[in-house]
Amino acid sequence: MNADELIERAAEMAELAESGANRATSVAQLGEIERDVVRGSLSDIKKHIKDVDGSDKARVGQALSAAEARAKAALEVRRIDLESEARAATVEAERLDLTALGTGYGVGHLHPVTQVWRELEDIFCGLGYEVFYGPEAEDDWHNFEALNFPPGHPARAMQDTLYLELGDAEQVLLRTHTSPCQIRLLETQAPPIYAVMPGRTFRRDTMDARHSPVFHQIEALVVDRDITMGDLMGTIDVFFRALFGDSIDARFLPSYFPFTEPSAELGVSCPFCDRSGCRTCSNTGWIELGGCGMVDPNVFTAVDLDPEEWSGFAFGFGIDRIPLLRNEIDTLHTLLWDNDVRFLSQF
Ligand code: PHE
Repeated sequence: MNADELIERAAEMAELAESGANRATSVAQLGEIERDVVRGSLSDIKKHIKDVDGSDKARVGQALSAAEARAKAALEVRRIDLESEARAATVEAERLDLTALGTGYGVGHLHPVTQVWRELEDIFCGLGYEVFYGPEAEDDWHNFEALNFPPGHPARAMQDTLYLELGDAEQVLLRTHTSPCQIRLLETQAPPIYAVMPGRTFRRDTMDARHSPVFHQIEALVVDRDITMGDLMGTIDVFFRALFGDSIDARFLPSYFPFTEPSAELGVSCPFCDRSGCRTCSNTGWIELGGCGMVDPNVFTAVDLDPEEWSGFAFGFGIDRIPLLRNEIDTLHTLLWDNDVRFLSQF
């Protein structure tokens, strides 16, 4: 082959490599083209340079180098393309579809009533009290009789009891207050007793802004030697300050409960108007929370404790009032029944 034929053949080989590279669908095929064309045909052509005229050697050499460069460049470009296609295919095949987990779960929080319930337990634990839970379905003895409500006692009528159709008529009921926990505790534990008993309570009330057939109370019972009304008032004072802050006052108004003597209605100065009167306290400056008093000697006798030896105080009040007051929520219904997360998530 003369010089021109070699140059032409080299160009053909470069084109062959280019078209082969463009058609190749794998890096392995590119390797075959490299082997056949670059290391094969083009190398063969190079061997013929020694046969051409001396004056043509440079020209043929340059054409060969150019052809080789063209072939290698085509192979390289295609190799980069194929490799990135392969990588994209791997990424696609191994893709984790994280959207399958959904649009995200909101983190919830405790219901405002539960928050206050736990806060109350914390405060009393801090005072050295234990926490005790009694059953929601009670018998007449614990809910009434042992608490000095004899059968037919008018105070029973104040309680709007929900009875369960179990056993003898009107013997099993949904507890109307947490006070039966006092009896259960006194039946199972010897004094001294310092305990709080939170829980759900039930009355035959129609749901409205202030009433609910299911509500929450917390009961406190202290039984020890030489407990006085001063201990009761001091304890309530400390506890109210822990709950509402230092600027509030406790109020005791004479009242009646069968299981305490003397008894008092328990109130707190309105935290919103500082006793000057506002909508929350119905312009009285005070908010009623519950009842309290010294444990009636008949209660001690009912659980076989000697009223001469032991003395104690008890108090009980509604828990639901507290988140209502704190958050200036108008209706109990909204807090306890609607279960609207848009509302509850604010507290
Ligand atoms: N159990 C009473 C009620 O529900 C409140 C109370 C508790 C009163 C303890 C005195 C002592 O109204």
